[in-house]
Amino acid sequence: MKLFTVSMTISLAATAAASPAHPPCPHKNFRWVSLPAVGGGAPIQEQGTAATETHIYLLGGIPPDANNSQPAVPSTNTFEAYSFKERSWKSLTPIPKAFTHANAAAVYGKIYLLGGLTGDGVDKIWHATGDCFVYDIAKDEWTALAPMPDGQSRGSSAVGISGSTVYLAGGMERLEVFENGAQTSLDIVTAYDTKAGTWTTLPKLPAPRDHVGGAVIGRKFFVVGGRDHGQPNVRNTTWTLDLDAPSRGWAAHAEMPTARGGLSMGVIGERYIATFGGEGNPDPGSNGVYNETEVYDVKKDCWFKLAAMPHPRHGTVAASVHGRIYIPGGGVYIGAGPVDTFDAFELGV
Ligand SMILES: *[C@@H]1O[C@H](CO)[C@@H](O)[C@H](O)[C@H]1NC(C)=O
Ligand SMILES: *[C@@H]1O[C@H](CO)[C@@H](O)[C@H](O)[C@H]1NC(C)=O
Ligand SMILES: *[C@@H]1O[C@H](CO)[C@@H](O)[C@H](O)[C@H]1NC(C)=O
Repeated sequence: MKLFTVSMTISLAATAAASPAHPPCPHKNFRWVSLPAVGGGAPIQEQGTAATETHIYLLGGIPPDANNSQPAVPSTNTFEAYSFKERSWKSLTPIPKAFTHANAAAVYGKIYLLGGLTGDGVDKIWHATGDCFVYDIAKDEWTALAPMPDGQSRGSSAVGISGSTVYLAGGMERLEVFENGAQTSLDIVTAYDTKAGTWTTLPKLPAPRDHVGGAVIGRKFFVVGGRDHGQPNVRNTTWTLDLDAPSRGWAAHAEMPTARGGLSMGVIGERYIATFGGEGNPDPGSNGVYNETEVYDVKKDCWFKLAAMPHPRHGTVAASVHGRIYIPGGGVYIGAGPVDTFDAFELGV
């Protein structure tokens, strides 16, 4: 890929001749499906998302009435579930605390909320909170867990699940929502064992990331794109950690065609990682939002681009279930601006 780029800058004719040596990444057909509005018409953005075989759960986030002119950043404790069978949304027992950018995961029939950000209602700063909770689906009941270890409180991490362990890579501690406000980005990587209730530390990311894609395929934890200290500082990296040999550290793979933070990401068939949208687009006509759909072929270590999203947005976590990637809510301009759009993406149809 690097050699190809170099030859392109030297001579277009030479590129055309050289390109057969670099076969294009094989594309797949795709389809978008429209689904019932989130929460029956309750826009949400920067929520945590978790999925089981039967439901998608949305944890907290930036509430429906949020806008950039509010004096303090909002967060909410709402907890919504979408049933695949009933094709409808339902409000469940609220989370004991209001969160945005929560790290969420479903593991063996329970929903875990492992830290996030929260607003204190007085200023335009979201702070990290290490508070953790578990939700029992059968009882519709929340229970507090021990908080994250000192110095590891954060939201907006890449989340991966393997067996009974939840992996969190990067994340952020502080998001100041005003001009030149600080946005801390972290490189720490930790794992929560849901059976033992214990945290362990893994090798740091090669660089800090938040608003970043995460997924486990096989026993590899993929961490894709994201940003490093602020919306404009978008990144195109594809990194993996081998969970069976974490001491080997992070490996770098083919880079995304378009660097993006605030993207959503899902997995199809253990073979494809699809990435959608994002925040920090410098194009003046874009409202600061990316519309890209770009797919990584895990087997061939290459990316292909598909047509733009029908409803471009950023700031939402997607869920991958039954070969579909579900994208609930999100924001349609830089900063706040949640919507209730709910759609799903399929590949190879
Ligand atoms: C934005 O929020 C502020 C404070 O809550 C409110 O006064 C204002 O009407 C809202 N603006 C819009 C466009 O909703
Ligand atoms: C990824 O970003 C880096 C840094 O901006 C750039 O050098 C590289 O060419 C990008 N890769 C691709 C595939 O565009
Ligand atoms: C996608 O975004 C780009 C850059 O902002 C814009 O030029 C293009 O028209 C958009 N595509 C669609 C289909 O909206």
